[in-house]
Amino acid sequence: HLSQSQQLHGFCDAGCGGVGGDASSRILVKGGTVVNAYHKEIADVYVEDGIIVDVRPNIMVDDEVTVIDATGKYVMPGGIDPHTHLAMDFMGTQTIDNFFSGQAAALAGGTTMHIDFVIPVNGNVSAGYELYTKKAEKSVMDYGFHMAITKWDEQVSEDMEVMVKEKGINSFKFFLAYKGSLMVSDESLIYGMEKCKSLGALTMVHAENGDAVAEGQKRMIDLGITGPEGHALSRPPVLEGEATARAIRLANFVNTPLYVVHVMSIDAMHEIAKAKESGQRVIGEPVISGLSLDDSWLWESDFITAAKYVMSPPIRASGHDKVLQNALSSGILQLVGTDHCTFNSTQKAFGINDFRKIPNGVNGIEERMHVVWNVMVESGQISVTDYVRVTSTECARVFNIYPQKGAIQPGSDADIIVLNPNASFEINASTHHSRSDTNVYEGRKGKGKVEVTISRGRIVWKNGKLNVEAGSGRYIPMRPFGYLFDGIEKKDAEYLSSLRAPVQRFKASA
Ligand code: URP
Ligand code: ZN
Ligand code: ZN
Ligand code: ZN
Repeated sequence: HLSQSQQLHGFCDAGCGGVGGDASSRILVKGGTVVNAYHKEIADVYVEDGIIVDVRPNIMVDDEVTVIDATGKYVMPGGIDPHTHLAMDFMGTQTIDNFFSGQAAALAGGTTMHIDFVIPVNGNVSAGYELYTKKAEKSVMDYGFHMAITKWDEQVSEDMEVMVKEKGINSFKFFLAYKGSLMVSDESLIYGMEKCKSLGALTMVHAENGDAVAEGQKRMIDLGITGPEGHALSRPPVLEGEATARAIRLANFVNTPLYVVHVMSIDAMHEIAKAKESGQRVIGEPVISGLSLDDSWLWESDFITAAKYVMSPPIRASGHDKVLQNALSSGILQLVGTDHCTFNSTQKAFGINDFRKIPNGVNGIEERMHVVWNVMVESGQISVTDYVRVTSTECARVFNIYPQKGAIQPGSDADIIVLNPNASFEINASTHHSRSDTNVYEGRKGKGKVEVTISRGRIVWKNGKLNVEAGSGRYIPMRPFGYLFDGIEKKDAEYLSSLRAPVQRFKASA
């Protein structure tokens, strides 16, 4: 519910310190419980010019400083969403949230940074980067980019190098599904993994077997199943498990770390658990829809209600959600994304006669922080510190921007939220900030509300009001060779030395 003038200029009735509260360069967040990923304490947080300057009890300031009373509340790093699709051209249309509306929604929900997937233009990586740089011009908060790789050739390989060395990208996503559009072959995946490894960039996979999905879809159509339930039936968990296992084994073969996006099933989670057990570096990202919803909605008789739950991999049968929660609380899965990829009712209706044409994707960028709090912390499954780890800090570590992001400590960017554990949230399409007319969390209520969001030292959300400015968001470059790469050369050396004997035997016999 942002008006056009709000879209162009932002708006400033947030009561956040009078004239130009948004411009207030000095803020004191007073008396709250400051929570980091591994520690919490009651302290004040003092911010100057977008940076956290001091964190300790009883900080004294002059009258010019904007003071936010956080007594009895949690003061935490703003959420970082590792997985979004804003203004993405997909399945014959474009996601309804762009870098303005999607980010405004994020800020209203306590997320202060996201990493979006650049989609190459007809496979062209550089063109994709240019296009997304334009798309992101109206940004109202900080953001970074992953790059998708949708074909393989020498140019793509060279462009990947440019992306890492000059453009601040340190992760590349390979789709093993979406046959005929984004999907790549195992051959391309292997070349891509080798290139990623040489650049110190993280390989990410969308893990579903796209060939089998196409076959499953044909099966449903032949049976006359054309509604949204056909989407889930055509791509069962076994296809997610297969692709996850395959990607993990290929990453093992290449000896490079792997990040599995949107882990939606027990099957995929088990493959990640097994890999971790054997010492392989695999990061599993559940998304909030997979952690908190089940597929019963897909059987709703009202098409639009059912279609809004269509995403890939599908939201699974009841039971998968709880096991994914367990995996998150025990560390098998490490950080939570959204896969925010929103289409409105009109767009979802493209598939009214054929589920294969329903644009895939659900909302979540505004809801993630509240739903994770509700499902994981309120239920007692994770601690408040773990909440910060899975919603913010771990993402910053994996993508090598910690502690600029993901921490409340001197020197970090002032991306801060104040969460009141005793206030309540309620989610409705009529009050959310996404441009979509529907919400997959419609009617969900719970305790724990983000009351204040500070984005790089600007109070952007307070008293239920947004105060954002188009163009104020910054691109955050991410450096290669994050912690996941530490020591992998030792395993390479071990492998090479294991080949010495067979090579010598070969030479001797030649
Ligand atoms: O359904 C989904 N997930 N849409 C977004 C594209 C992707 O696969 O991440
Ligand atoms: Zn203001
Ligand atoms: Zn995906
Ligand atoms: Zn996605």
